[in-house]
Amino acid sequence: MGLFNRKKSAQMQADLTKLPRHIAIIMDGNGRWAKKRGMPRTAGHAAGAETFRNIATYCKEIGLEYLTVYAFSTENWKRSAEEVGALMGLLKKYLLEAIEQMERDRVKMEFFGDLTALDPELQELCQRTREISKRYEGCQVNICLNYGGRDEIIRAAMAYARDCKEGRASADSLTAEQFGEYLFSKGVPDPDLIIRPSGELRLSNFLPWQAAYSEFYFTDVLWPDFDQEELHRAIAAYQGRSRRFGGA
Ligand code: FPP
Repeated sequence: MGLFNRKKSAQMQADLTKLPRHIAIIMDGNGRWAKKRGMPRTAGHAAGAETFRNIATYCKEIGLEYLTVYAFSTENWKRSAEEVGALMGLLKKYLLEAIEQMERDRVKMEFFGDLTALDPELQELCQRTREISKRYEGCQVNICLNYGGRDEIIRAAMAYARDCKEGRASADSLTAEQFGEYLFSKGVPDPDLIIRPSGELRLSNFLPWQAAYSEFYFTDVLWPDFDQEELHRAIAAYQGRSRRFGGA
């Protein structure tokens, strides 16, 4: 199929009037994108941040309710100081711009992860973004920052244990819904669709609790090259699935 037809069919297949409520994305492949071009990994992250801006804006335009992205994992601290510094710098830049444009965009932003390990300036920006977001009702963008799925579950278990010890909860009865209230994702429906670009076929500690019944979409496209057409393709694939949630 030619490029034009491939693009056209993806667009035709994705029914934007019946969107999943929540799409989550592992923004992978920035380093390989840069390497292919003989550029430093940090240039790949800058291109990836631009893609994130475009995709988040598009998701808001088409009326998606929730978009969650993996921006920095609890394991990403193992990368070089230069790379970590560049990622933190991109996040600060993005949040400063987002704060300026929030009145216009009316995007609600949240953060999943342990923000206390971040530098105070970035923590303050996250806090400010969160505060401003309370006024808005539109698309909610969740940025996973110093996030790890196992870390999230362990923190939730400890918080629950504390509530049991202090008489606010019972150790003999707990539902998945109640446990969900202790997670960073409290109040957010589970992702319907999880997208991972760059050809990797794993979850990498991204929303393991919330992904229990998610549909997955994998593509070889590297995150900086991911665009609206790719998103349409992912949505079209999702719309072709039959979700039974364990039923017949
Ligand atoms: C994975 O690609 C990507 C990351 C660890 C960082 C994702 C961050 C951004 C897209 C930019 C900042 C985000 C915002 C919200 C402004 P990789 O580096 O592991 O790629 P590789 O597997 O090709 O090396």
